[in-house]
Parts: sequence; structure tokens; C-alpha cells
Amino acid sequence: PSAKPWAGRFNAPTDAFVEAFTASVDFDRRLYRYDIRGSIAHATMLARQGILSDAERDAIVSGLESVRERIDAGAFEWSIPLEDVHMNVESALTELIGDAGKKLHTGRSRNDQVATDVRLWLRDEIDLIRKAIARLQAALLDLAEREAETIMPGFTHLQVAQPVTFGHHMLAWFEMLDRDRERLADCRRRMNVMPLGAAALAGTTYPIDRAYTAELLGFDRPAENSLDAVSDRDFAIEFTAGAAILMMHLSRFSEELILWSSSQFGFIELSDSFCTGSSIMPQKKNPDVPELVRGKSGRIFGHLMGLLTLMKAQPLAYNKDNQEDKEPLFDTVDNLKGSLKVYAEMMREVTCNRERMRSAAAQGFSTATDLADYLVRKGIAFRDAHEIVGKAVGLGVREGRDLAELTLEELRGFSDAIQADVFAVLTLDGSVAARDHLGGTAPAQVRAAIVRARGRLADV
Ligand code: ARG
Repeated sequence: PSAKPWAGRFNAPTDAFVEAFTASVDFDRRLYRYDIRGSIAHATMLARQGILSDAERDAIVSGLESVRERIDAGAFEWSIPLEDVHMNVESALTELIGDAGKKLHTGRSRNDQVATDVRLWLRDEIDLIRKAIARLQAALLDLAEREAETIMPGFTHLQVAQPVTFGHHMLAWFEMLDRDRERLADCRRRMNVMPLGAAALAGTTYPIDRAYTAELLGFDRPAENSLDAVSDRDFAIEFTAGAAILMMHLSRFSEELILWSSSQFGFIELSDSFCTGSSIMPQKKNPDVPELVRGKSGRIFGHLMGLLTLMKAQPLAYNKDNQEDKEPLFDTVDNLKGSLKVYAEMMREVTCNRERMRSAAAQGFSTATDLADYLVRKGIAFRDAHEIVGKAVGLGVREGRDLAELTLEELRGFSDAIQADVFAVLTLDGSVAARDHLGGTAPAQVRAAIVRARGRLADV
């Protein structure tokens, strides 16, 4: 019963290997709900335009619904000779309702059909992914709130630079994820244009109403140009680019978590439930989850390059090459969702070793800039102040003491502008508290930023 819908002009059957080689049903069956939804909208429009009778439409709609139920129930037999999800569903419909089923494809092609299905599917996935990003962001805000006062060394070149608060550091990740969330919203907006009606490539001779079908399917509008509608996979590339940037962020973040949870840093501890042990070394507790997320960034970058390469030499309009868009998209979506989910849960269970972070910040002369700023306030030019403090740091390095551990006499040896009040600026708490402006690391600013950030998440 798997006669090919396109067999009319052929004299010989498809080579068995070619049949399997060209089929996509093993993976594109994942789109069946969207395929059926699109077909129902198409048939509804055809009937409204008098192209199908109301009775035919009713038979098609209820037939498609029972095909969907059969697939939902796992009772559908997918056929490789029927190539893809579209022809599998259509044949099952015709088998079920007879001649009316053969009319469903009027004014349509698999070319506009598949372009529509993938958009409908990805649109839903983007909504889920954006929610998953927001859940991770919310976890980071809670952590930032808990650790708004926690002082850690801030780094440049992975060398201790200036003290920052851990909450402030978490908010940096919040911002990156917020841009990722916005990028996907932008991509969704451009994607939400309906290909149906383009048919194979040139449009159709039937008096269709594309605006009506678009409305039924929740698209903002029909695509302007039929050739573009069936050829365009920009939306897939754009989505994957957004996904790649997001994974790049998670990979960087992972790198920090891996470093911070090492015994050399000892800043944080990941919960046991997000780590694994070693089969040989009994002491090991490995940060597998961030490592795996860092690793997964590689395949998603690969999918972006794969899709770009897939499209770069295709003449208009549809080419079978496009069938290759699906597996990278599916894999990107699955791994992105998995990474976001595990990250949100993992970040909720991070514990901070506040003492370790503080003592790491107290080493490495992290308040040297504060001393220079202090000298500037006493009337010394910044470049001179930089030089004075550099010399004081030199003494500290030789003696193995931090700036706050030098005596007033020793400090005054570098500049007599230095007075007893200097020790207030050399403390870690003084240093962070002094960076008290929008975007600064002061705990008060971190708390205010968290309040604003919660407002930005409210729309999700
Ligand atoms: N399975 C095909 C795809 O994924 C559906 C469109 C096929 N169109 C065609 N003219 N062969 O792109």
C-alpha cells in the first residue's frame, strides 16, 4: 500500500538503496504534529475558497486528526518507500478517507509544506528555549542575591586584577544570557512568515487566500515571494547562530566553574548530584556537567557551519539538499535544551567558599588601583600615583606581604601624601563598596541590579 504519490511518470521502481538513501522519514517524522496542523489549515482555507467542498474538508480534518492520534499512540507504521513525513501522513489519510484525501495536496507542494512545518516546529522550540534561558537567569539572580556581598578576585589575563563581588560576576552571565534570549526572539520574529501558497516555487493557479491560512497558523503574514519562500533557510541558520553564541557563553561559563571548583581555586563546590567520580582514583569528584556542556558547544558550532555550507551554493528554488537542514536543527535544539536545563538546576545548588574567595582576593595586590585612586584624591596625577603604587607593590612582592600589610611608615616611604586613612581604601570591602555607580561591583549596586533584572525576566 505504499505506492509513491509521484510514481505516475516513472517506469522503473526506485532502487532499494536509493529509496533508503533519499528518505527522511526516520528523522522528519518528528514534525508530524506540525505537518498535520499545516494540512488542516490548508484544507480549511481551500474549502473557504470553494476549492474543496465542506464535506471534503470535514473528512480531511477528521481524518488528519485520527492519523495524528494514531501517531501519538505509537500505532502508526512509518514507511520508508513513502520517503518523508509529508507523504506518510497524506497516504495514511487517503487510505482512511478515500478520494477526499487525494485533494488535500491541491495548490500545495512538499516544498512549501516542509518550509512551513519546520518554521512551525522551530517557533515552538524557540519559545521553550527562551523559557529555559529565563529559568537559568532566575537561578543566577537568586545566587547573585545570596552572594551579593561575597568578595572574590576579579581577573584579567587570569591574573588577580581587582576585587569584585560574586553576585556581580553572576550578573555578568545574566546579561549575556539576556542577549541570547533577545537574539532568539528576533530570530522568531523574522521566521514567523508563512511559506504556504508558494507551492513548488512559482505559486499556484487556484484562488487561494494565503492571509487566511497564515492567520490560522499564527504566522504574522504570508511570505512575499514564492521563490524565496521555498528556498529560504536563513531562519535555520540564524537560529543556529543564536544557539552557537549561547553555547559559547555556556562554554565560557563552564570553564569558570571547572576552574573555580578545582582544589587550586576552591571558590565553589558543585553539588554531588552534578558531578561524577573516577573508576580508578577514589578521591575524584569531577565537574562532568560543565565539561560536557563545554564540549557540546563544539557540535553546535559545527551545525552552524554545516547549515551555512548546505545553503551556500544552492541555486533557487528548492533543492533536495534542504532535507539536510533537519538533523542539525534537531540536534541543536535537543542539546541546547538539555544544556540549559541541567545548568539551571546545577546553578541552584552551587555553594560558595566565601573564605577562600576572600583570601584569594586579598592576595595579588587587588587593591593597588584603589591606592592609586587614593593618591589622586590627595592631589597626585594618576600616572605618578601609578608609579608610586607600583613601587609599593614591588616591596610587597619582595617581602611577601599585601599592601594592607605594609606599615604606614613603609607606605609613606613611597609618598608622604599617604596618611593613616589609607588603610580604609586598602580593604577589600572598601574597594568594592567604592565602585558605587550603575554597573559597578558595590553590593548596593548589585542588589539594585538584581531588582531591575527581575523586572526584565517578568515578561517570560
Ligand atoms: N523531505 C523533503 C525535505 O525535507 C521534503 C520536500 C521534498 N520536496 C521535493 N521536491 N522532493 O526537504
